[in-house]
Amino acid sequence: MSDKINILLLGGGGREHAFAWKLSQSPLCGKLLIAPGNAGTAQHGRNVNVNPNDFPGVRQLVLNENINMVVVGPEDPLVKGIWDFFAADSALAHIPVIGPSQAGAQLEGSKAFAKAFMEAEGIPTAAYREFTAANLKEGLAYVAQHTLPVVLKADGLAAGKGVVICSNITEARDELRDMLGGKFGDAGNRVVIEQFLSGIEFSVFVLTDGKSYKILPVAKDYKRIGEGDTGLNTGGMGAVSPPPFVTPELMKKVENRIIKPTIAGIQRRGMVYHGFVFIGLIEVDGDPFVIEYNCRMGDPETEVVLPRLNNDLVAMFQALAEGNLDKVVVEEAAHAATTVMLVSGGYPGDYEKGKLISGLENASDSLIFHAGTQEQEGGIVTNGGRVIAITTCAENFREALSVSLENAAKIDFENKYFRTDIGFDL
Ligand code: AMP
Ligand code: GLY
Repeated sequence: MSDKINILLLGGGGREHAFAWKLSQSPLCGKLLIAPGNAGTAQHGRNVNVNPNDFPGVRQLVLNENINMVVVGPEDPLVKGIWDFFAADSALAHIPVIGPSQAGAQLEGSKAFAKAFMEAEGIPTAAYREFTAANLKEGLAYVAQHTLPVVLKADGLAAGKGVVICSNITEARDELRDMLGGKFGDAGNRVVIEQFLSGIEFSVFVLTDGKSYKILPVAKDYKRIGEGDTGLNTGGMGAVSPPPFVTPELMKKVENRIIKPTIAGIQRRGMVYHGFVFIGLIEVDGDPFVIEYNCRMGDPETEVVLPRLNNDLVAMFQALAEGNLDKVVVEEAAHAATTVMLVSGGYPGDYEKGKLISGLENASDSLIFHAGTQEQEGGIVTNGGRVIAITTCAENFREALSVSLENAAKIDFENKYFRTDIGFDL
């Protein structure tokens, strides 16, 4: 390996723009390619039109471009086994892939796997049972005597839509029938039914090599489309880091009760894991419970976490790949960060693409991370539901929010929508 590292970053959302921004600042970063990227990632490297799920396409790109490291943004290629694909190919096996093996990615890819894992490791989470079409009757009976509300989760990846919280038994029974009947395709062949937990949610990110681990800045995202956390779930409308209620005492509990047993469980099962564990948590009466695991960074949490990380991210990934993660010291910035997501009108339902984005050059004092954007002749246009994340760093998250909102007013496209109340409950 030369001293510069040629990196291929997979993905094309706001998370990947934040990664591209951060990776490109490193003196260790050689060539940076992003597949497929967006109009924002193109400011920090070269976009290549390869689908991250097209493993042979990724292979060709890696070999043609002399890539030395692959950083995987989204969960899909991880759950489909991109790590294993590299490990099994003699031309690729020496190239580190930042992300877990397919076995490790099950923590996100199968809710039933994750629940059984937590149960076996004694990790606090909501009580649950799992059902398939073969024991639908039993499932219907189980739901009928469950306390309300009750939470139903499709086992597999369902693009963030596979969790339904039901407030009455009829609705829950219908939902169980629909899920097992194919409402979410194969993702719903197995359904987890769990206890509803009431509290405030937050996101903890851990970088691990499967043995040691490093805890990154904590964040909280705002998933609902409407002000005051109302309406449909989205990929995330904004985020704050750090959420002030996450005290050192709470983080000690998270580390001892959740992070340590998670890493121990990964080791015990011999799952190769060189990447991020994103732990979605809820605080109930001062105690943390796991809502879900993800095998990647969060979006839009990455857009507030990376601006608060002073470390050289390429050096961190290199240490991870070389088995030296234990020597890394995480340097968390003292400032806070808030991001506000500009979305296309209609999202998370139907929305139009191709709307010209104006005013990007007028934004100041914020980091503008592109999510669903595309460069076209004549300018940058919208290309997704979530369009732009506006991140500001300031002494506290409220000051940061007000600057992000000023910039949210300056950047425009037809049917733009955003929440003005990110952090309202903190
Ligand atoms: P997930 O896809 O597992 O992150 O679930 C999506 C959202 O549903 C979470 O962010 C929570 O707001 C909510 N949720 C999931 N499981 C529970 C639970 N057991 N109790 C309360 N809310 C939950
Ligand atoms: N913002 C939540 C997620 O990335 O899953």
